[in-house]
Amino acid sequence: MKIISVAGARPNFMKVAPIHKEFRRHKDLVHHLICHTGQHFDENMSKVFFDDLELPPPDYYLGVGAGSHAEQTARIMTAFEDVAQQEKPDLVLVVGDVNSTLACSLVAAKMGIKIAHVEAGLRSFDRTMPEEINRMLTDSLSDFLFVTEKSGIENLKREGIADNKIFFSGNVMIDSLLYYLPKTDRSGVLRNFGLNKGKYVLVTLHRPSNVDSEKSLKRVVFFLNEVADKRKVIFPVHPRTRKKLIDCELLNTFNDRIIISDPIGYIDFLALMKNAEMVITDSGGIQEETTFLHIPCITIRNSTERPVTVEIGTNRVVGTDLHKALDAVFSLLKGEAKNGDVPPLWDGKAAERIVGTLLT
Ligand code: UD1
Repeated sequence: MKIISVAGARPNFMKVAPIHKEFRRHKDLVHHLICHTGQHFDENMSKVFFDDLELPPPDYYLGVGAGSHAEQTARIMTAFEDVAQQEKPDLVLVVGDVNSTLACSLVAAKMGIKIAHVEAGLRSFDRTMPEEINRMLTDSLSDFLFVTEKSGIENLKREGIADNKIFFSGNVMIDSLLYYLPKTDRSGVLRNFGLNKGKYVLVTLHRPSNVDSEKSLKRVVFFLNEVADKRKVIFPVHPRTRKKLIDCELLNTFNDRIIISDPIGYIDFLALMKNAEMVITDSGGIQEETTFLHIPCITIRNSTERPVTVEIGTNRVVGTDLHKALDAVFSLLKGEAKNGDVPPLWDGKAAERIVGTLLT
């Protein structure tokens, strides 16, 4: 059996890594190839993750780079069609909800190649998010839908996906987290940034709804400056956010208790998350990782496609009204945190279950 896994953007790499390791344990049964689309291309958005996650260099690198949604998706499709024609895989495995996920699924579907979608069924019910469109369309094309939380099963059934295509496999992102957590002890990241365990706030923000307009970016700067009056803040800045901050001449308006850094590699970022007093984010994956680590998380979005992190985890979705976000920060600083539980099957064995299903 020949399988091509697609990895394109930063949040894909830690999902593909445990699946690749598991396929390698069965190399007598499966020839596994990795195709990196090049959606993310900076060293610190891509290569550092391959190194940290001990992934081999990709078998194919498509080098598509940035562009509008249509341009990027189209470039990935054209380039991936060549790969699929050359390799004639039995199955294409895609993860998450980025443009690379949908583009390669579309190519595979039209070539009659089976598709496995890892992290299927998540829904924010907000179609203004490009990821929501990517999720819905990828799921509708997939043959194997591997779900991380129970809400995913309900969503897929509601959309008419047959029961026998849905597999509750758990969360591969947590497989990576569990595997690499011991290595964070050797990370010098806290020392390098002069941070003390449990005494700083970690921030990541890159969603269009928070960073694409000058008005929302100004609100973000005001909000973070208020947080920094109480606690040191570290803010590793995504290239998209950095560009907008520079365009709006706001990069130098953060107060000096905010450490503005470049994007940070996987293991150092885990170390920062594990030792933070709280995390403020608009990322999807970080909502899950903080829940697993029992670290309070404030999500600056109007919805989440990962409701289990709110229902039983440590996540609070506060919307994009940053006064509400500030209230949430202050209540956490007063010690009003919920401890939270770890969702079912977030146990480090998701890749094993996924590969087991695909190889039977
Ligand atoms: C993408 C995903 C988003 C995910 C995020 C994680 C889509 C629709 N969005 O958003 O779901 O949460 O990745 O990071 O797929 N850029 C660089 N260097 C890089 C990567 C990007 O400079 O290595 C710049 C690009 O030039 C572009 C901008 O960042 O202008 C955004 O990149 P893009 O891949 O389009 O979307 P993200 O915002 O990263």
